Amino acid sequence: MADRRTTVLLSVLLFASAAAFVEELDDSFMETKGDDEIWLIKFYAPWCTFCKQLDPVWHQIGSEYRSLGSPVHVGKSDATANTGLAKEFRVRTYPAILMLKKNIKYNYSGVRTKDGIMDFANRIAGPLVRSLSSVQLFQHAMSRHDVMFVYVGATSPLKGNYTSVAEQLIVHTYFFSTSRDVLPKAVSLSTLPAVVVFKDGTYFTYSEERDGDLKLWINRERFPNFSQIDSYTLYAMGETGKLVLLALVEEKHLCEESLREMYFGFMAGSDYISGLVMGEIIVPTFIVVNLSNDGYFLPPGTVQTEQNLLDFLDGVLNGSMQGHGGNGALQRVRRLVYDTRVTLAPVFSHAPLLGCFLVAFPLTIGACFCYLCFKARPTVVDEDGTPLLAPPLGGHKKSKKKSD
Ligand SMILES: *[C@@H]1O[C@H](CO)[C@@H](O)[C@H](O)[C@H]1NC(C)=O
Ligand SMILES: *[C@@H]1O[C@H](CO)[C@@H](O)[C@H](O)[C@H]1NC(C)=O
Repeated sequence: MADRRTTVLLSVLLFASAAAFVEELDDSFMETKGDDEIWLIKFYAPWCTFCKQLDPVWHQIGSEYRSLGSPVHVGKSDATANTGLAKEFRVRTYPAILMLKKNIKYNYSGVRTKDGIMDFANRIAGPLVRSLSSVQLFQHAMSRHDVMFVYVGATSPLKGNYTSVAEQLIVHTYFFSTSRDVLPKAVSLSTLPAVVVFKDGTYFTYSEERDGDLKLWINRERFPNFSQIDSYTLYAMGETGKLVLLALVEEKHLCEESLREMYFGFMAGSDYISGLVMGEIIVPTFIVVNLSNDGYFLPPGTVQTEQNLLDFLDGVLNGSMQGHGGNGALQRVRRLVYDTRVTLAPVFSHAPLLGCFLVAFPLTIGACFCYLCFKARPTVVDEDGTPLLAPPLGGHKKSKKKSD
């Protein structure tokens, strides 16, 4: 009996501590939290399914940080109930994942997996610029990061600029610093201090005259030149203003070709791009995407040789290649029609009756509405009581013409 009571007590205790991995936050949070606390917060709405899907991930993150003794506190808040807090964090969509450190808020916009979110949280929670003081630390960092920004040299105005860029772009990438003797001998730097990016098996050095603003340069260089791209990355790349050349492949293919004007990536499966192009795409193929205006370029024929591909890319860059898509009014209407069709097609194939109902219901409502409006208007009625449709319609047309 006593045993059973202990078990119950234990499980109650366990449950209570499990629940505390993730704290429920309300509008008083900003006043009650400590100044130096670091928080990872999920804003949700009770009706949002994506938020519910995130619950187990959130719980795992909470328990992992707790067991590691991490300084990161994990919380969640119902944005529909705690509107003050949601407003403070400028929450517009659900779920919103944000981090708070030293009263600065950082927004997470990547894939909602435990690894993705924890990588983000660790990056923000740690120092803004991480010092790599030995060759071992440098090698270790190199093995873990596809793209690595490194400041080389002593304290300088450039380091001040580098640190302030780090403050703004830490949500996207890590920032490191080191001294010249830690770098491999093969790296040649003409002057110190320098900012270097290591990626694609090589490195590029920042030059203020050639590359302009440091922040813009880092924002452009923060993707590997050739890598697998998902739709989140594609959008993030679009925001930098560069073009994106996508090789759509069924399986992983490698290509060493690289042009500095574009990102190169490969994408498995063509669903996302079919949506952009609004049609079927036969893979494997190449496509250049201009995310500034939702435009795209397809090669005129099949690309069989390297020269075919280079001619196509030259055509895109010098403007002789005909672009498609875009974000003009006509394209938007086409997109609306396409999206509606794509959304309704699976409904029709799985549940034709429901599909008919979804289409027929608004049409019926619309028809009834028109009918009622029509009926409410003083119509010309002949002796038998049959409404004469011609005069009101004609009148309507005429008045429209007049207003033109
Ligand atoms: C730091 O940035 C400012 C403007 O953002 C620029 O004028 C200045 O030249 C930069 N200094 C160095 C050393 O890069
Ligand atoms: C990509 O779109 C932007 C914005 O509309 C435009 O200025 C730029 O010329 C386009 N680039 C190409 C290669 O079409």
